Amino acid sequence: MSSDFLASKKIVLGVTGSIAAYKAAELVRLLKKSDCEVQVVLTKSAKEFIQPLTFQSLSGRSVYDEMFNQNLEIEIGHISIARWADLILIAPASANIIAKIAHGIADDLLSTICLASKIPILIAPAMNEAMWNNKATQENIATFIKRGITLVGPDSGFQACGESGLGRMSEPSEIVDSIEHFFIPQLLKGKRIMITAGPTVEQIDPVRYISNFSSGKMGYAIADIAQKMGADVTLVSGPVHIPEVKSAKIIKIKTALEMYEAVMNNIEKIDVYISAAAVADYRVENPYKNKIKKLNENITLDMIKNQDILSAVSNIHKVPLIVGFSAETENLENNARAKLLSKKIDIIAANLVGENIGFNSENNELLLLAKNGIMQKLNYKSKKKLAYELLSFVFSYYDGEQLK
Ligand code: PMT
Repeated sequence: MSSDFLASKKIVLGVTGSIAAYKAAELVRLLKKSDCEVQVVLTKSAKEFIQPLTFQSLSGRSVYDEMFNQNLEIEIGHISIARWADLILIAPASANIIAKIAHGIADDLLSTICLASKIPILIAPAMNEAMWNNKATQENIATFIKRGITLVGPDSGFQACGESGLGRMSEPSEIVDSIEHFFIPQLLKGKRIMITAGPTVEQIDPVRYISNFSSGKMGYAIADIAQKMGADVTLVSGPVHIPEVKSAKIIKIKTALEMYEAVMNNIEKIDVYISAAAVADYRVENPYKNKIKKLNENITLDMIKNQDILSAVSNIHKVPLIVGFSAETENLENNARAKLLSKKIDIIAANLVGENIGFNSENNELLLLAKNGIMQKLNYKSKKKLAYELLSFVFSYYDGEQLK
């Protein structure tokens, strides 16, 4: 996974003594892939589990581990490290470092950097279940929450000690996801956004259906970024094979009719409706009850029009701000403009579909047309980055006022 929001961010990664220390190496790899600068600081016991050289090779920087290193004091020092960084991440964080930070103890480099710093701290605990559940640890965690220190995990599962329970360090990709929260502006705080994503499937008989190539990646990227920008997200999703969006309310549907019902039943309090799903325009009028036999040379399917969900939303009593998509193989701007008008919506995000663009691609390109005439082109880039630019456009276009 690569994030576009972490580029050039400076992160101090503190690694403490835990069997999960090996996962911190993957964490460094992911952060570097996202163009972060990573300064690894190891505690004495972390070095029992993993070699500094591993981190040095992955981060491209010297690893710091000692409080009183003559070279280090001359070159940088613990105060400078604390000032240099945008975020301190401790992963894995042992019960010991958690206790030290909670009580303001500064007896090694990592704990001293934490005490000397004014920047956000993110902690990914990793310990045996009994240590996690111990009252002392829980009281320390309560102190963290009071002070605004953010926690990611711990997860539940099989532990190195042979027991099973809460205490496993979260997966590195999940930790990187949490870091994004720090760096994405919270423009949509408190806004309720509904997003549709993925394809719909229209049944022909019990074993066949008509669908399209939508993977859900565009809609899921919008849902993910919207919720990282502070929105309360409802995701209405057709059948897809991509990871779920954490913290979003997900309503799973199969057919266009089911999507229509899911949207209309939940639209009432929504501020922004974004329709990224590739909804079938037609469905088979009378799906066969049994599998169609190969008896005739040709068969004909009678199809009827599905209700247009965007138009239905634009006709409800309290109309949200509506963003439609337009998937085109030609005449992008003209076709999209026609849909903007006919569907009576506020903004349309038009994309060409083809090889490596639109359907089932990692990247995309969007032309945004708003009903007041504003037009903006979003160049070819990751769907996540596009999602951020699209949501920022939505926010700035209405200047926050009509999102209330
Ligand atoms: O899912 P991915 O693989 O990431 O691909 C992304 C995408 C190409 C599917 C996405 O970017 C996109 O373009 N989604 C809209 C696809 C589409 O159905 O376009 P359309 O031009 O046929 O429809 C116009 C708009 O009407 C769309 O917002 C659509 O959701 C909406 N619609 C269509 C039919 C219908 N019955 N009800 C609707 O609301």
